[in-house]
Amino acid sequence: MTTSAKRAPVRIGVVGLGRLGKRHAMNIAYRVPGAVLAAACSPVDEERTWAREALPEPRIYEEYEALLADRDIDAVWLVTPSSLHAEQIVAALRAGKHVFCEKPLSLDVAECERVLAVAREYPHLQATIGFMRRFDPSYVDAYEKMAAGAIGRPFMIRSQTTDKNDPEGFFVRFAPTSGGIFLDCTVHDIDVARWFFGNARATRVYATGTIALHEGLRECGDVDNGVAVVEFEGGRLAVFYASRTMAHGNDTHSEVIGTAGALAIGHYPRANRVDIYDADGIRNECTPTFFERFEEAFLREAQAFVESVRQRRQKAQVQAGGANLPHDDAQIGATLADALEATRIGRALREALASGQPIAL
Ligand SMILES: NC(=O)c1ccc[n+]([C@@H]2O[C@H](COP(=O)([O-])OP(=O)(O)OC[C@H]3O[C@@H](n4cnc5c(N)ncnc54)[C@H](O)[C@@H]3O)[C@@H](O)[C@H]2O)c1
Repeated sequence: MTTSAKRAPVRIGVVGLGRLGKRHAMNIAYRVPGAVLAAACSPVDEERTWAREALPEPRIYEEYEALLADRDIDAVWLVTPSSLHAEQIVAALRAGKHVFCEKPLSLDVAECERVLAVAREYPHLQATIGFMRRFDPSYVDAYEKMAAGAIGRPFMIRSQTTDKNDPEGFFVRFAPTSGGIFLDCTVHDIDVARWFFGNARATRVYATGTIALHEGLRECGDVDNGVAVVEFEGGRLAVFYASRTMAHGNDTHSEVIGTAGALAIGHYPRANRVDIYDADGIRNECTPTFFERFEEAFLREAQAFVESVRQRRQKAQVQAGGANLPHDDAQIGATLADALEATRIGRALREALASGQPIAL
């Protein structure tokens, strides 16, 4: 590989231009140094029209297979329904592309394991799952403080992912492919708990839930409010809450409690620094959706992925010259193995919700 190839931009094809795909595409196109948004793919006509108008002249594909056949794409960026992730990651790796995929890796543990097995055949390719909280500055700061001993021995995590109620019920339509509230929402909290607990193994889970507003979820066996407890080895505990029905906005926050203190991350989710003084008192507007809350995390995650692919190229070049260069794995976010464990725990929570029984792992 020549020096210019090593320094060449990472040419990315974004697949899926829905609610979140458009955001990722805009980040890659305009805000990630070293990346070029080379292609975009969606089976939906309006989304392809949007891509032609909003993005800087990517090649536009209707079918994923056509994008994979594009030899001028280095990496695939999957923002597609969760039920498609596993097979699309496998196809990307087999086509020789690095791959970023939104969470969760899959709704099924066996499918996750298959993806890991295929990825082992392509160790030179980067494969990352989009647990963006690992890049949120506040989560990173809390993690570093905790790791430095600021709260003694952490033994308890309380974490919630709660969305503003959507009277249109987008997520009711989304439910057949989302995997349910624990695999769709709580999977983020699960990943945070594993990350903060140093990849501790989960041993047993409990779950319950209710339908507060959206009866349409019942036929998918889903709920719009769910509560879970996960026991981890070493006597560590996590309590999770997920909701689709918050009146005030997206209120995602976490707390890690240790023997000498606690750290709270994102409590009081104010949208900005404006305080409103009026006849109702003094208040703030709340972050409306996950995207406003985690905008910076999504951007940093994309920047880290691109940097990691570039590091791999550099490493390949140095190794070709006979030397060794370590890869900075700490910077790459959640690995496929992390994502497999998150799905394993999320599936067990779904089973616990359905059965009303604790599930041993
Ligand atoms: N990290 C987060 O906090 C977060 C937040 C929201 C969504 N997500 C994840 O992002 C993914 C997409 O969610 P969304 O809300 O954008 O959904 P969405 O339904 O708005 O968009 C899905 C997109 O996939 C495309 N698509 C469907 N089938 C396809 C196929 N066979 N080939 C290529 N494209 C196809 C659709 O056209 C659409 O563009 C999900 O896996 C979800 O879990 C993550």
